[in-house]
Amino acid sequence: IFLEPKYKRVIIKLSGEALSGSAGHGIDTPTVQSICSQIKEVFELGVEIAIVVGGGNFWRGRSGEGMDKSTADYMGMLATCINALGLQDVLEEMDVPVRVQTAIEMKQIAEPYIRRKAIRHLEKRRVVIFACGTGNPFFTTDTTAALRAAEIDAEIILLAKSIDAVYDSDPLVNPDAIRYSELSYIDVLNQGLKVMDSTATSLCMDNHIPILVFGLNEPENILRAIMGEKIGTIIQE
Ligand code: GTP
Repeated sequence: IFLEPKYKRVIIKLSGEALSGSAGHGIDTPTVQSICSQIKEVFELGVEIAIVVGGGNFWRGRSGEGMDKSTADYMGMLATCINALGLQDVLEEMDVPVRVQTAIEMKQIAEPYIRRKAIRHLEKRRVVIFACGTGNPFFTTDTTAALRAAEIDAEIILLAKSIDAVYDSDPLVNPDAIRYSELSYIDVLNQGLKVMDSTATSLCMDNHIPILVFGLNEPENILRAIMGEKIGTIIQE
Protein backbone atom coordinates (compact mmCIF):
# COMPACT_ATOMS: atom_id res chain seq x y z
CA ILE A 1 0.00 0.00 0.00
CA PHE A 2 1.11 3.52 -0.81
CA LEU A 3 0.60 5.94 2.03
CA GLU A 4 0.70 9.70 1.85
CA PRO A 5 2.82 11.62 4.35
CA LYS A 6 0.68 13.53 6.82
CA TYR A 7 2.78 16.67 6.56
CA LYS A 8 4.02 18.70 3.61
CA ARG A 9 6.51 20.98 5.38
CA VAL A 10 8.18 20.18 8.68
CA ILE A 11 10.95 21.30 10.95
CA ILE A 12 13.08 18.49 12.32
CA LYS A 13 14.93 19.53 15.47
CA LEU A 14 18.00 17.42 16.14
CA SER A 15 19.92 17.90 19.34
CA GLY A 16 23.69 17.98 19.04
CA GLU A 17 23.83 14.92 21.30
CA ALA A 18 21.72 13.00 18.77
CA LEU A 19 24.69 13.19 16.39
CA SER A 20 27.22 11.93 18.89
CA GLY A 21 26.00 8.35 19.24
CA SER A 22 27.11 6.48 22.32
CA ALA A 23 30.21 8.65 22.73
CA GLY A 24 28.01 11.51 23.96
CA HIS A 25 30.23 14.13 22.36
CA GLY A 26 31.53 15.00 18.93
CA ILE A 27 30.12 13.60 15.71
CA ASP A 28 29.68 9.87 15.25
CA THR A 29 29.58 9.28 11.50
CA PRO A 30 27.51 6.06 11.50
CA THR A 31 24.93 7.75 13.74
CA VAL A 32 24.72 10.77 11.45
CA GLN A 33 24.48 8.48 8.42
CA SER A 34 21.60 6.62 10.00
CA ILE A 35 19.73 9.87 10.77
CA CYS A 36 20.43 11.23 7.29
CA SER A 37 19.22 8.09 5.56
CA GLN A 38 15.92 8.47 7.42
CA ILE A 39 15.77 12.09 6.33
CA LYS A 40 16.46 11.04 2.75
CA GLU A 41 13.64 8.49 2.87
CA VAL A 42 11.18 11.15 4.02
CA PHE A 43 12.55 13.73 1.59
CA GLU A 44 11.90 11.30 -1.26
CA LEU A 45 8.25 11.14 -0.26
CA GLY A 46 8.05 14.80 -1.24
CA VAL A 47 8.10 16.30 2.24
CA GLU A 48 9.73 19.73 2.56
CA ILE A 49 12.26 19.46 5.35
CA ALA A 50 14.07 22.12 7.32
CA ILE A 51 16.43 21.05 10.06
CA VAL A 52 17.38 22.96 13.19
CA VAL A 53 20.39 21.45 14.87
CA GLY A 54 21.74 22.00 18.36
CA GLY A 55 25.36 22.05 19.44
CA GLY A 56 25.47 20.28 22.79
CA ASN A 57 27.79 17.55 21.48
CA PHE A 58 30.52 20.20 21.33
CA TRP A 59 29.48 22.89 23.72
CA ARG A 60 26.44 23.78 25.78
CA GLY A 61 25.70 27.38 26.68
CA ARG A 62 25.31 26.32 30.29
CA SER A 63 28.63 24.46 30.44
CA GLY A 64 30.53 27.71 30.64
CA GLU A 65 30.20 27.92 34.39
CA GLY A 66 31.46 31.22 35.69
CA MET A 67 31.68 32.35 32.10
CA ASP A 68 29.78 35.27 30.68
CA LYS A 69 26.45 33.73 29.59
CA SER A 70 26.34 35.49 26.24
CA THR A 71 29.87 34.39 25.37
CA ALA A 72 29.03 30.80 26.30
CA ASP A 73 25.92 30.99 24.11
CA TYR A 74 27.87 32.38 21.15
CA MET A 75 30.26 29.43 21.49
CA GLY A 76 27.19 27.17 21.38
CA MET A 77 26.03 28.86 18.17
CA LEU A 78 29.37 28.09 16.54
CA ALA A 79 28.96 24.48 17.66
CA THR A 80 25.60 24.25 15.85
CA CYS A 81 27.38 25.41 12.72
CA ILE A 82 29.89 22.53 12.92
CA ASN A 83 26.95 20.13 13.14
CA ALA A 84 25.12 21.78 10.26
CA LEU A 85 28.14 21.36 8.00
CA GLY A 86 28.50 17.74 9.11
CA LEU A 87 24.85 17.03 8.26
CA GLN A 88 25.18 18.86 4.95
CA ASP A 89 28.13 16.73 4.00
CA VAL A 90 26.47 13.42 4.81
CA LEU A 91 23.19 14.37 3.11
CA GLU A 92 25.02 15.48 -0.03
CA GLU A 93 26.96 12.24 -0.02
CA MET A 94 23.52 10.59 -0.20
CA ASP A 95 22.52 12.81 -3.13
CA VAL A 96 20.08 14.89 -1.11
CA PRO A 97 20.31 18.57 -2.14
CA VAL A 98 21.02 20.75 0.90
CA ARG A 99 21.54 24.39 1.77
CA VAL A 100 22.91 25.57 5.10
CA GLN A 101 21.82 29.00 6.31
CA THR A 102 23.43 30.66 9.31
CA ALA A 103 21.72 33.13 11.62
CA ILE A 104 25.08 34.84 12.10
CA GLU A 105 26.75 35.86 8.89
CA MET A 106 29.78 33.78 7.96
CA LYS A 107 29.54 34.04 4.21
CA GLN A 108 32.66 32.06 3.45
CA ILE A 109 31.15 29.04 5.19
CA ALA A 110 27.47 29.15 4.28
CA GLU A 111 24.76 31.46 3.08
CA PRO A 112 23.17 33.79 5.60
CA TYR A 113 19.65 33.14 6.83
CA ILE A 114 17.17 34.80 4.53
CA ARG A 115 13.62 33.71 5.15
CA ARG A 116 12.34 34.05 1.59
CA LYS A 117 15.39 32.25 0.23
CA ALA A 118 14.90 29.41 2.70
CA ILE A 119 11.31 29.00 1.53
CA ARG A 120 12.47 29.08 -2.09
CA HIS A 121 15.01 26.33 -1.38
CA LEU A 122 12.27 24.20 0.13
CA GLU A 123 10.03 24.77 -2.89
CA LYS A 124 12.93 23.80 -5.16
CA ARG A 125 13.22 20.52 -3.26
CA ARG A 126 16.25 21.18 -1.09
CA VAL A 127 16.68 20.35 2.55
CA VAL A 128 17.51 23.53 4.48
CA ILE A 129 19.62 23.39 7.62
CA PHE A 130 19.40 26.34 9.98
CA ALA A 131 22.61 26.96 11.91
CA CYS A 132 23.65 29.34 14.70
CA GLY A 133 20.32 29.21 16.50
CA THR A 134 18.42 32.48 16.32
CA GLY A 135 21.74 34.32 16.31
CA ASN A 136 21.02 35.64 19.81
CA PRO A 137 22.29 34.55 23.19
CA PHE A 138 19.63 33.50 25.72
CA PHE A 139 17.63 31.73 23.01
CA THR A 140 17.88 27.96 22.70
CA THR A 141 17.88 25.90 19.54
CA ASP A 142 14.41 24.65 20.56
CA THR A 143 13.28 28.27 20.43
CA THR A 144 14.99 28.50 17.05
CA ALA A 145 12.92 25.55 15.86
CA ALA A 146 9.75 27.31 17.04
CA LEU A 147 10.76 30.61 15.43
CA ARG A 148 11.77 29.10 12.10
CA ALA A 149 8.65 26.92 12.04
CA ALA A 150 6.53 30.06 12.42
CA GLU A 151 8.56 31.92 9.80
CA ILE A 152 8.47 29.26 7.11
CA ASP A 153 4.97 28.09 7.97
CA ALA A 154 5.93 24.55 8.94
CA GLU A 155 3.02 22.37 10.02
CA ILE A 156 4.80 20.69 12.89
CA ILE A 157 8.07 20.50 14.80
CA LEU A 158 9.47 17.00 15.03
CA LEU A 159 11.52 17.14 18.20
CA ALA A 160 13.84 14.15 18.01
CA LYS A 161 15.21 13.24 21.43
CA SER A 162 17.24 10.55 23.09
CA ILE A 163 14.11 9.74 25.14
CA ASP A 164 11.04 8.24 23.43
CA ALA A 165 8.36 10.59 24.84
CA VAL A 166 7.60 13.18 27.51
CA TYR A 167 7.37 11.86 31.08
CA ASP A 168 6.42 13.58 34.34
CA SER A 169 9.84 12.69 35.73
CA ASP A 170 12.99 11.04 34.44
CA PRO A 171 12.06 7.41 33.64
CA LEU A 172 15.70 6.37 34.08
CA VAL A 173 15.59 7.59 37.67
CA ASN A 174 11.91 7.00 38.52
CA PRO A 175 10.54 3.64 37.30
CA ASP A 176 6.99 4.91 38.00
CA ALA A 177 7.36 7.95 35.78
CA ILE A 178 4.15 8.67 33.85
CA ARG A 179 4.46 8.69 30.08
CA TYR A 180 2.31 11.17 28.19
CA SER A 181 1.00 10.57 24.70
CA GLU A 182 -0.70 13.99 24.53
CA LEU A 183 -0.15 17.28 26.32
CA SER A 184 -1.28 20.85 25.89
CA TYR A 185 1.19 23.72 25.78
CA ILE A 186 -0.27 24.95 29.05
CA ASP A 187 0.34 21.54 30.69
CA VAL A 188 3.98 21.73 29.65
CA LEU A 189 4.32 25.25 31.02
CA ASN A 190 2.34 24.70 34.23
CA GLN A 191 3.97 21.40 35.11
CA GLY A 192 7.39 22.74 34.20
CA LEU A 193 8.01 19.67 32.02
CA LYS A 194 11.54 19.73 30.73
CA VAL A 195 10.66 18.87 27.15
CA MET A 196 11.56 22.28 25.83
CA ASP A 197 12.15 25.65 27.47
CA SER A 198 9.23 27.95 28.18
CA THR A 199 10.22 30.49 25.51
CA ALA A 200 10.06 27.80 22.84
CA THR A 201 6.82 26.36 24.24
CA SER A 202 5.07 29.74 24.35
CA LEU A 203 6.19 30.63 20.85
CA CYS A 204 4.64 27.38 19.60
CA MET A 205 1.52 28.03 21.63
CA ASP A 206 1.06 31.57 20.30
CA ASN A 207 1.55 30.41 16.73
CA HIS A 208 -0.40 27.13 16.99
CA ILE A 209 2.51 24.94 15.99
CA PRO A 210 2.24 21.38 17.29
CA ILE A 211 5.36 19.63 18.57
CA LEU A 212 5.89 15.89 18.31
CA VAL A 213 8.47 14.60 20.78
CA PHE A 214 9.86 11.19 19.94
CA GLY A 215 12.98 9.07 20.29
CA LEU A 216 15.59 8.77 17.60
CA ASN A 217 16.65 5.38 18.95
CA GLU A 218 14.12 3.54 16.80
CA PRO A 219 15.46 3.74 13.25
CA GLU A 220 12.16 4.35 11.44
CA ASN A 221 10.80 6.99 13.81
CA ILE A 222 11.26 10.04 11.60
CA LEU A 223 9.34 8.26 8.85
CA ARG A 224 6.65 7.07 11.27
CA ALA A 225 6.27 10.59 12.64
CA ILE A 226 5.85 12.04 9.15
CA MET A 227 3.28 9.39 8.25
CA GLY A 228 1.23 10.50 11.25
CA GLU A 229 1.72 7.40 13.38
CA LYS A 230 1.00 7.93 17.04
CA ILE A 231 4.50 7.74 18.44
CA GLY A 232 5.98 9.75 21.28
CA THR A 233 4.12 12.73 22.74
CA ILE A 234 2.17 15.32 20.79
CA ILE A 235 2.00 18.79 22.31
CA GLN A 236 -0.73 21.04 20.96
CA GLU A 237 -3.73 23.14 22.01
P1 GTP B 1 18.91 29.14 -6.72
O1 GTP B 1 19.04 30.61 -6.60
O2 GTP B 1 17.52 28.68 -6.47
O3 GTP B 1 19.53 28.54 -7.92
O4 GTP B 1 19.67 28.55 -5.43
P2 GTP B 1 21.13 28.04 -5.28
O5 GTP B 1 21.32 27.91 -3.80
O6 GTP B 1 21.40 26.81 -6.05
O7 GTP B 1 21.95 29.18 -5.93
P3 GTP B 1 23.10 30.07 -5.39
O8 GTP B 1 23.83 30.50 -6.61
O9 GTP B 1 22.56 31.08 -4.45
O10 GTP B 1 24.01 29.08 -4.53
C1 GTP B 1 24.90 28.15 -5.09
C2 GTP B 1 25.67 27.52 -3.94
O11 GTP B 1 26.36 28.51 -3.22
C3 GTP B 1 24.77 26.80 -2.92
O12 GTP B 1 25.44 25.66 -2.45
C4 GTP B 1 24.64 27.81 -1.81
O13 GTP B 1 24.43 27.19 -0.55
C5 GTP B 1 25.97 28.51 -1.88
N1 GTP B 1 25.83 29.88 -1.41
C6 GTP B 1 24.91 30.79 -1.76
N2 GTP B 1 25.10 31.95 -1.11
C7 GTP B 1 26.18 31.77 -0.31
C8 GTP B 1 26.89 32.59 0.63
O14 GTP B 1 26.56 33.73 0.90
N3 GTP B 1 27.96 32.02 1.24
C9 GTP B 1 28.34 30.74 1.00
N4 GTP B 1 29.40 30.25 1.64
N5 GTP B 1 27.71 29.95 0.13
C10 GTP B 1 26.65 30.45 -0.52
